Amino acid sequence: MSRTLAPGIQLQVVSAAEFAAAAADLVQAVVQRKPDAVVGFPTGDTPLPMYHELLRRQQLGAINLSSLRAVMLDDYLGATGDDPVSFHNWLKRTFFDPASIDGWRLWRVPTDPEGIEAACRTYEQGLAERGGVDLQLLGLGLNGHIGFNEPGTSPDSRTHVVHLTPSTTTANAAYWDEAENVPVYGVTMGIGTILEARSIGLLVNGRRKAEILRATLLGPISPEVPASFLRRAQHVQVVADEDAAALLA
Ligand code: F6R
Repeated sequence: MSRTLAPGIQLQVVSAAEFAAAAADLVQAVVQRKPDAVVGFPTGDTPLPMYHELLRRQQLGAINLSSLRAVMLDDYLGATGDDPVSFHNWLKRTFFDPASIDGWRLWRVPTDPEGIEAACRTYEQGLAERGGVDLQLLGLGLNGHIGFNEPGTSPDSRTHVVHLTPSTTTANAAYWDEAENVPVYGVTMGIGTILEARSIGLLVNGRRKAEILRATLLGPISPEVPASFLRRAQHVQVVADEDAAALLA
């Protein structure tokens, strides 16, 4: 089922079984049109089956991912080098290496605390030098965050350092042995940066995201729900499974 919610925002509701394929279709479409497309990739549980599906399609010869140019959405401040839980290393392990996307094709969010503000500006320049982002994929936080843009973030924000909220650090704690080791600072593309992408894919699955998806798509557009600002963008495709879409009727 597909439905237009606002001039720039299209909702596609699929079964849980179809979710990964529907998300992968967004990447496949942009890469078929432009093999060296600039694509922004999130980490997390939501996109994981999409990465597996994209790798499966590449193995079958249905898609070639190796020419795309990848950009990162966010990472932890201080997660440098080989830190296995850095978002960069997660994406490299999960997707970039198996997809044969060479390191030089990846533009990384800066994570070194030293000189971080200048590095954030350089990150933005790098996006511009690549001609901007063709497709930005996003997951949806339980508190409405996109990237690490927590509630209260300005819609004009650019790449910046964030003090993560307890909701986010609690959600992230699953990836860490000791809860007290979960980083409390992140670096993220700003909402303004995200909204400049030529197209955006918001991926949402599971019943626990139903309330926040409803607030995102049907509630007020407000910094309290950062994802609601996506309704100001021109080309947003929301891919939701039936559980996540349960409260949208
Ligand atoms: C991750 C990111 C976050 C997640 C969101 C949903 O790079 O930017 O905004 O997309 O927290 O996470 P999952 O998919 O694990 O529920």
